[in-house]
Amino acid sequence: MDLLGKRPGFLIRQDRPFNGGPLLADLGRSFVTPNDLFFVRNHGDVPVVDPETFRLEVKGEVDCPLSLSLDDFTRFPRRELVATIQCAGNRRSELVDLKPIPNELPWGSEAVSNARWGGVALADVLAAARPGPGALHASFCGLDDVERHGKRFHFGGSVPIAKAMSPELLLATEMNGEPLPPLHGFPVRVVVPGWIGARSVKWLHKVKLQAEPSDNYFQAVAYRLFPAAVSAENVVWEEGMRLGEQAVNVVVTTPLEGQVVSFGEVRFAGVAFAGGGRRVERVELSQNDGTSWVQASFLPGDANWAWRRWQAELNLETGAREVAVRAWDSAAQTMPPAVDQVWNFKGYMNNAWFRLRLDVR
Ligand code: MTE
Repeated sequence: MDLLGKRPGFLIRQDRPFNGGPLLADLGRSFVTPNDLFFVRNHGDVPVVDPETFRLEVKGEVDCPLSLSLDDFTRFPRRELVATIQCAGNRRSELVDLKPIPNELPWGSEAVSNARWGGVALADVLAAARPGPGALHASFCGLDDVERHGKRFHFGGSVPIAKAMSPELLLATEMNGEPLPPLHGFPVRVVVPGWIGARSVKWLHKVKLQAEPSDNYFQAVAYRLFPAAVSAENVVWEEGMRLGEQAVNVVVTTPLEGQVVSFGEVRFAGVAFAGGGRRVERVELSQNDGTSWVQASFLPGDANWAWRRWQAELNLETGAREVAVRAWDSAAQTMPPAVDQVWNFKGYMNNAWFRLRLDVR
């Protein structure tokens, strides 16, 4: 199978379109995820883009529409930022274990990664285009073709203008010091730190300022959150909550679910991340379903929009044990105890306690 530049061992969830992520054991090894390990979420095939003829169009409710070549990007100050991207479908497989979720990728916990992005601030580019009073949302359109319900169209989405003008939004042309790899949006993607990954549109070729949110399928229909009672049969799409900021979440990368471990001190490690501009402040572990908790410590590496890596030691006695892990963010928000409290028929935003069954011998 063609790994499209990913390293051997990369877990391919789907061949076409290409979707996959690192093995959990590799996920938090370093603060920044190497490009050949960074998870991939594609809804269509990777488009081939000629950098010579490429133009990024900035249009809509602006006084001064722009058509920028890659050379034109050098007119704007270069920015760098470390940011985590997580797919809204991360940890879906735990929801699937409760009740089937047809037609969606059964992601484990690997649909999250952290990179150092380089490029220009979207705010600087928008300022040059001079937004008008009707510019309430920035919509993004990619060059990839996606097919849904017999129609072919480009992937897209939008963010409100306040987020679009925030300094952390990048038009990224580099990922970890290299040109953006084709799988991750070459030559330009938008990076929307703190928001669901779907808004970080890859192969970006159009930014349009407009009065309404994007009417693209991936904003108007998909990536909405519904109550547990709603199903594909009775859904009214407009009634779903449009997903935006991430919720606080945690992933355990070691040990692994079902692993046999020796009794005594067992080392746990993983990553935790928070949405919006919030920071992960605490990660804690329980081996008695939340009656008492042990606090983890953080490993080096800290940036405003990035995950935090953590580790902890738990003293485990022999037998079948379940360990639960939860994180807290700087708004004192934490995670719900069980997946039945977050189950939804599209399988988004699972941030229930991360539970791990271990065989301690
Ligand atoms: N942009 C385009 N053009 N096409 C896509 O399919 N997938 C989105 C987003 N941007 C997507 C896209 C989703 S759902 C996620 S989670 C992130 O890209 C994943 O980014 P990555 O593949 O670089 O990890």
